[in-house]
Amino acid sequence: MDIKKIGILGAGTMGAGIAQVCVEAGFKVMLVEIEEGILKGALSKISKAWQKSLEKGKIDDATKTSREALLESSGELSSFKDCDLVIEAIVEEISVKKKVFKAMDEICPDHTILASNTSALSITEIAASTSRTDRVAGMHFFNPVPVMKLVEVIPGSDTSESTIEAVVNLTKGIGKEPVVAKETPGFIVNRILNPLVNEAALAYQEGVASAEEIDKAMKLGAGLPMGPLALADMVGLDIVLHVTETFFKEFGEPKYRPALVLRQKVRAGHLGVKTGKGFYDYAK
Ligand code: CAA
Ligand code: NAD
Repeated sequence: MDIKKIGILGAGTMGAGIAQVCVEAGFKVMLVEIEEGILKGALSKISKAWQKSLEKGKIDDATKTSREALLESSGELSSFKDCDLVIEAIVEEISVKKKVFKAMDEICPDHTILASNTSALSITEIAASTSRTDRVAGMHFFNPVPVMKLVEVIPGSDTSESTIEAVVNLTKGIGKEPVVAKETPGFIVNRILNPLVNEAALAYQEGVASAEEIDKAMKLGAGLPMGPLALADMVGLDIVLHVTETFFKEFGEPKYRPALVLRQKVRAGHLGVKTGKGFYDYAK
């Protein structure tokens, strides 16, 4: 399938990075976000990244200008009407995802593939809200998107082989490494990484050590690139909580019960880096 224009829904932590890498690979991108302030922030973050590349001599003026011309943005889902593939990256709640997939199904041309960047939810359930269950797939990027090489590609129960082939080819086309994973909660990486993050939150709430000490121990003692609590803040504590809740509900095992401290921080609106406070304080 010939993908020329990519739609991205949600310009938060993930959507902004996905838009950036798709444009850098030469695709036309339509970035749609309902919160005007978040959209402005995302465009400014992408622009700063390209400015930094220019200053470092990684790209020239002409490349920066052509990238800027490839990136369009909007507050309306109807802007996806000429996209060949749309990647959804909004809140990790199944009811909200189903609603937007239904709407996108009505707006997009028949050939358009609808992909979800969900961290742990069922692609089959998301696809069931559309009339194109064969053209819906999981396309799971990792944070920070411009740096992390992996994209997990997840077929739902009705996803066609040609859809998976198109998503795998696109993943390679944007310089990422695809791994096709079966539809199970959290796929591969989150299945293994999220319990580690939840366990770190449990250790923190039990007072085993401070956040700094837990993170230091896991970096120096387990060789992680960053501590699990700093990682939770970077991912977003709402996302970590949603993923853990999905595991607890779907697997039905007590070992997946979310740490209370996650729930408390999310209730207080302390979601990590994106709100300025989580396990750490990011206030400037
Ligand atoms: N956005 C864009 N680029 C970034 C970045 C960000 N947030 N953070 C770092 N970078 C870039 C830097 O600009 C730098 O690039 P240059 O070399 O071109 O200058 C490069 O990455 C290295 O940066 P630093 O030296 O500042 O930082 P580092 O070497 O400590 O690496 C890190 C930072 C890549 C975040 C590293 O700590 C890391 O790999 N952490 C773990 C990340 C991880 O586990 N991600 C998966 C989370 S789970 C998930 O995403 C799935 C889900 O569904 C929740
Ligand atoms: P985020 O909270 O940073 O951003 C989500 C954005 O979607 C917000 O800006 C919000 O305003 C916007 N939005 C919500 N409803 C919308 C709608 N109907 N139309 C348009 N925009 C809408 O979230 P995020 O961290 O970018 O996560 C997005 C998705 O990606 C989630 O499913 C998450 O599980 C998944 N994911 C997150 C990470 C991560 O590390 N944060 C990694 C991989 C996958």
